[in-house]
Amino acid sequence: MIRVDIIAGARPNFMKIAPIIKALEKHRADGGDLRYRLVHTGQHYDARMSGDFFTQLGIPEPDVNLESGSGTQAEQTAAIMVRYEQLLLDAPSQLCLVVGDVTSTMACAIAAQKLRVPVAHVEAGIRSGDWSMPEEINRMVTDAITNWFFTTSDWAGDNLKRSGIPEDRIFFVGNTMIDTLLANLDRLRPPPFWDELGLQSSSYFVVTLHRPSNVDGVAAFDNLLRAIGRGTRGLPVIFPVHPRTAKTLQAIPGLPQSIHFVEPQPYLEFNYLTRHAKAVITDSGGITEETTVMGVPCMTLRDSTERPETVELGTNELLGTDPAALEPALNRLFDGDWKRGRTPDLWDGNTGERIVSTLARLLTP
Ligand code: UD1
Repeated sequence: MIRVDIIAGARPNFMKIAPIIKALEKHRADGGDLRYRLVHTGQHYDARMSGDFFTQLGIPEPDVNLESGSGTQAEQTAAIMVRYEQLLLDAPSQLCLVVGDVTSTMACAIAAQKLRVPVAHVEAGIRSGDWSMPEEINRMVTDAITNWFFTTSDWAGDNLKRSGIPEDRIFFVGNTMIDTLLANLDRLRPPPFWDELGLQSSSYFVVTLHRPSNVDGVAAFDNLLRAIGRGTRGLPVIFPVHPRTAKTLQAIPGLPQSIHFVEPQPYLEFNYLTRHAKAVITDSGGITEETTVMGVPCMTLRDSTERPETVELGTNELLGTDPAALEPALNRLFDGDWKRGRTPDLWDGNTGERIVSTLARLLTP
């Protein structure tokens, strides 16, 4: 028996681990040797940011919760490292599998590698080039100490090769977040406020913003919300509010009437909302992948993206952080002039299985 630690810490991790866990369970049922221990770092801890996703996506209860909680970047990193190191010392595993680019990803990779536990990174090799984003630092540090790299695109693999990683440690497998989306498309369901607000397909917008560059300054965030209110021409705008965004929002008086601020939505409700939206305005990375697969127009309020395929092949456009860029883009959308896009290679729903069969080959004699 070979045990793999699967690390999950923050909301965008949960949809990425679900298909890997499913594939590991199938592998076990088929007589394979791999087992897993699910480690939740506790970086996200609310039901709305964490528990709801486990329930809806059928992810089993974590075997261990490190309960690291929130704090500064260094405080979170330190708390996760200390607790995960202790766990590995008490009960070692043979591999540490991390996904994505959150603080938990980097912290657990460091703790594991220093104890000579090999690391596998799912969604390796993507780069925005923007060092002001904590996620970019997490990606770079994690990939510097990863043994096996699972990538979502050839471009990500090329980034790794350019940094000196030998080709035989890189596996282009596709996108586990999209496995989850495709597996749940038929289960998506409207949130309770759908009827209350009289929402109709293609007649409303979804907005999510939580990057410090957009939401930490009261005046700048206020300007951005006004530009969104104006550009969307009175159509309802649904804005599920991330906890860090809520803090700035409280300081803004007189918010545009058409913007409805709601709690963070569970997975099935959130993706129902995006699937039927006229367009999504966001600063998230993962959402640009989901809108690409669903063919929904997406406007990203950032200067860079670590997921260029969503722009080159998909429905996403990078508008930058100047609110003035929104109006012309929204005018084009209202004129019916938005690209349709296509789904990137291997984003086909089978990535979890490809990862597990690769791991089985690498880990079993
Ligand atoms: C993290 C990830 C980011 C991801 C985002 C999605 C890092 C560096 N960033 O950013 O990549 O897109 O999650 O959600 O890991 N909070 C709650 N309840 C929770 C979790 C957090 O109230 O369940 C509060 C925290 O106390 C903190 C704020 O939200 O005040 C930010 O949480 P944190 O985990 O530090 O980072 P995110 O900005 O959520």
